[in-house]
Amino acid sequence: DDNAPRTTKTVLLAAPRGFCAGVDRAILIVEESLKKFGAPVYVRHEIVHNRHVVNRLRGLGAVFVEELDECPDDRPVVFSAHGVPKSVPKAAEARDMTVLDATCPLVSKVHIEAERHYAKGHHIFMIGHTGHPEVIGTMGQLPEGAITLVETEDEARTIMPPNPDNLALVTQTTLSVDDTQGIIDILKGRFPTIALPYKEDICYATTNRQMAVKAIADECDLLLVIGSVTSSNSKRLVEVGDKGGADNAMLISSADSINWDMIEAADTIGLSAGASAPEYLTDGVLAALRSRYDITVKEVEVTKEKVIFRLPKLLRE
Ligand code: F3S
Repeated sequence: DDNAPRTTKTVLLAAPRGFCAGVDRAILIVEESLKKFGAPVYVRHEIVHNRHVVNRLRGLGAVFVEELDECPDDRPVVFSAHGVPKSVPKAAEARDMTVLDATCPLVSKVHIEAERHYAKGHHIFMIGHTGHPEVIGTMGQLPEGAITLVETEDEARTIMPPNPDNLALVTQTTLSVDDTQGIIDILKGRFPTIALPYKEDICYATTNRQMAVKAIADECDLLLVIGSVTSSNSKRLVEVGDKGGADNAMLISSADSINWDMIEAADTIGLSAGASAPEYLTDGVLAALRSRYDITVKEVEVTKEKVIFRLPKLLRE
């Protein structure tokens, strides 16, 4: 019945949300490589952890592989935004391949920090998630055994480093700011001389997206975070929402995965998107909500972002 009064709902739209400068750059590197070299361009690992982005680039002629040995010698290869172990560019160089490195500059910064600590003779702790490509990449900057991964507060309480007086710390860029601080506090308590990041390794985009979710979480009956299950920073946003007081928080890949029973039960719905989720997915969720309800959208912006990263030299020429 078109004349039936429609239910009203409020949508709190977190800002900043969605693409960060590192993701923007990584996607542009694939697009520009395809323009410059033609298809196919190989991409080692999902360029960013989002299925929609990957499928679109695949449609343009990108071929996604997990390892370098799946690429031919004579086609360009792009390394994903998450970074790669040192062995990968080395192998590419040995094969004389054309390489476009889409590693986020803020990940490369952590690589350099780790190398600097290692050169000073420190043993390095890395706070991060086992198996995440960024962790594999950062740990792979140094010889095996140089870096020990610390994933939880429990591990921080029990870990026994080879030399407790000569330690340094680096982290993954997409962690929960609060959880990481908890782990750092424990390590600092146990190892007072540990060299900490000068400015933390968690990137500005991760920090800002978490801050924005925190600002709305308490008012949300339901918080939706758009992102893929492989996306570390998106999953952290769901956790931050949960801890911040949202009655319910969940990850959705797009409007298609909305649970409408949960929407029905919610008056105030929070909406954010991980750093690898395109803005059109947010628009899609808003459109889907609008098609069923009278919605009032309030954007809650905690800060503005102006970060832009340059393309690699090969694509600027
Ligand atoms: Fe870089 Fe942070 Fe984005 S490390 S890729 S700016 S989430």
